[in-house]
Amino acid sequence: MFAKVANDQCMEYVRLGRTNVNVSVAGLGCGGHSRLGLAHGASNEQAATLVSKAIDLGITFLDTAMVYGTEEAVGLGIRGYDRSKLFISTKSWVGKGGAETKPEKYTPAEFTANLDASLQRLGTDYVDLYHFHGVSHDQLDYVRDVLLPEVRRQQEAGKIRFVGMTEMFRFDTSHTMMQSALPGGEFDVVMIGFNLLNPSARKVVFPLTMQHDVGTLIMFAVRRGLNSVEHAVEAVAKMVEKGDLDPASINLADPLDFLRAVPGVKSQIEAAYRFCRHEPGAHVILTGTSSAAHLEENIQSILAPPLPADLSAKLEAIFGDCTSASAD
Ligand SMILES: NC(=O)c1ccc[n+]([C@@H]2O[C@H](COP(=O)([O-])OP(=O)(O)OC[C@H]3O[C@@H](n4cnc5c(N)ncnc54)[C@H](OP(=O)(O)O)[C@@H]3O)[C@@H](O)[C@H]2O)c1
Repeated sequence: MFAKVANDQCMEYVRLGRTNVNVSVAGLGCGGHSRLGLAHGASNEQAATLVSKAIDLGITFLDTAMVYGTEEAVGLGIRGYDRSKLFISTKSWVGKGGAETKPEKYTPAEFTANLDASLQRLGTDYVDLYHFHGVSHDQLDYVRDVLLPEVRRQQEAGKIRFVGMTEMFRFDTSHTMMQSALPGGEFDVVMIGFNLLNPSARKVVFPLTMQHDVGTLIMFAVRRGLNSVEHAVEAVAKMVEKGDLDPASINLADPLDFLRAVPGVKSQIEAAYRFCRHEPGAHVILTGTSSAAHLEENIQSILAPPLPADLSAKLEAIFGDCTSASAD
């Protein structure tokens, strides 16, 4: 079914925590700023080609959401492939209009209607993973007490294999919601914001996911803040402004220049994916793009070896205590 990634590398597969399902270590992120290219005017058919390309390169984990507008493209892109070999993840907000904008929440019946609409757009009768999307700390009790029992009913009806939850990393950069949610042990899989500018999940999230054997997906590995030198300059300036980073520890004009100076490190983006991939507790690294060339490059980065130990130590010394950046 799967072709080799360039350079004769083959995709690697990992057990996704207690789901006990093996999935690709690289996951196709169908949201983010690129939304498979739909954000830049691509058609559903063009976006679907990227999905098929990802599957041909060995990706089995596909992450979409009701709000991304990419479920139809995913449905088109998976046609002709063996559905049972793919792991499809989608999501619904808990609050209408997202986590922060409107306080009104979906009722259990509305939440199930969202699931049914996603299944229809995806052209499948079940999803492997259904997430509560971008949950804020204030929404957690409602998720547990009101929506989760309904989601369990849909799971028993065979529409959902596993239940997951994602955090609203842009607003919750120190993972307050996840720290409250994980000890309850209800969620099979979680999606966590983690990157080299904000590795705080290492201290407060991954010990809990490992303790509860929760499948762990990494988002924001690169996002905007790490996808160019200019954006890294902006992201680091904000961290300094918030008092999260000592300006004396870094070259403010090109904060990650030292990464690119290391032999064997191809680029800032390559280093950012490698940083996430080898983190203990991280299972799937999501990569979001509009470009087939970037997709191939990013898979190779995710399959590359860990960063050299002295570079990891330097990153830890500079950013190890930082909690303010989402790199959005
Ligand atoms: N709360 C949530 O549930 C939540 C929130 C955010 C994200 N997510 C999930 O996480 C996924 C990953 O996050 P993300 O989409 O932000 O992806 P990402 O992989 O962290 O960053 C992608 C950004 O970097 C650019 N990029 C990627 N590869 C590149 C390369 N090789 N060279 C230059 N630029 C490159 C992309 O633009 P190009 O199109 O130009 O490649 C895109 O703008 C999302 O797609 C979504 O599935 C979930």
